[in-house]
Amino acid sequence: MTEWQERIVDGRFDGRTVVVTGAASGIGRATASRIAREGGRVIAADVVERPLQELADEVPGVQTVVGDISDEDDVARIVELAGERIDGLANVAGVMDDFSPVHEISDELWDRLFRINVDGTMRLTRAVVPAMLAAGSGAIVNVASESALRGNAAGVAYTASKHAVVGITRNTAFMYGDKGIRVNAVAPGGVATGIQMPESTSEFGLGRLGAFLSAIPPVSTAQMQAATIAFLLSDDGVNINGVIAPTDGGWSVQ
Ligand SMILES: NC(=O)c1ccc[n+]([C@@H]2O[C@H](COP(=O)([O-])OP(=O)(O)OC[C@H]3O[C@@H](n4cnc5c(N)ncnc54)[C@H](O)[C@@H]3O)[C@@H](O)[C@H]2O)c1
Repeated sequence: MTEWQERIVDGRFDGRTVVVTGAASGIGRATASRIAREGGRVIAADVVERPLQELADEVPGVQTVVGDISDEDDVARIVELAGERIDGLANVAGVMDDFSPVHEISDELWDRLFRINVDGTMRLTRAVVPAMLAAGSGAIVNVASESALRGNAAGVAYTASKHAVVGITRNTAFMYGDKGIRVNAVAPGGVATGIQMPESTSEFGLGRLGAFLSAIPPVSTAQMQAATIAFLLSDDGVNINGVIAPTDGGWSVQ
């Protein structure tokens, strides 16, 4: 992969408040850090406390809130900490499946994937839109996945949940497009993060997917994903609305 260096755009988020979910790890952490270093006030939310606190200790401008994005009371606390003005939302928190095809999927795993990846994205979005409507401006970026663009990148639950994230993105972009609110998504390919797989994986699923997964472009870093997310959240993304950006090194054209 080409050598790449993150380049901070000084002051790009000056005066802006941006909520970032999944901020304790991986893409969410890199996004929260980048926005704060570009002048933003970041409300960093995650279910795990210690790494969130470490981020806040490391990067000025980050305020933390421990909460589950699928819990309505927790979502209310996240948004309350943000305050009346919310300029941006990065819906990054998400969980992976075990590559199960539909004949193997458990209700438990299906429900968990939809509760976090889909309901959580909807709940945070629903909670911030009123403030954005009042301000007449706002930007939202959802993290979908390559699995939102094709059928051979994960199991049925993750694939379906990320297709749903695309639906939320497109509909919300359309609904508020004339109200100054932009809603876009990134669709990352492989990213080197701590994302966890369930303890066991589907032999059937991996048997089908393995050959495809071994041919994909090299994994990216969380910082590379954060570069696109920050761009779309910032005024640099001014005329972009309803886009699903494949941040996948070209996987989607294979
Ligand atoms: N890593 C990849 O290869 C990859 C590829 C495509 C898409 N994605 C997507 O990127 C996003 C971030 O993944 P990552 O790779 O940085 O993973 P990660 O596990 O490093 O980070 C995800 C964070 O989300 C948090 N989280 C999980 N459930 C939560 C909940 N209910 N409420 C609040 N926080 C919660 C976790 O605690 C974790 O800190 C996810 O939506 C994932 O589906 C990742």
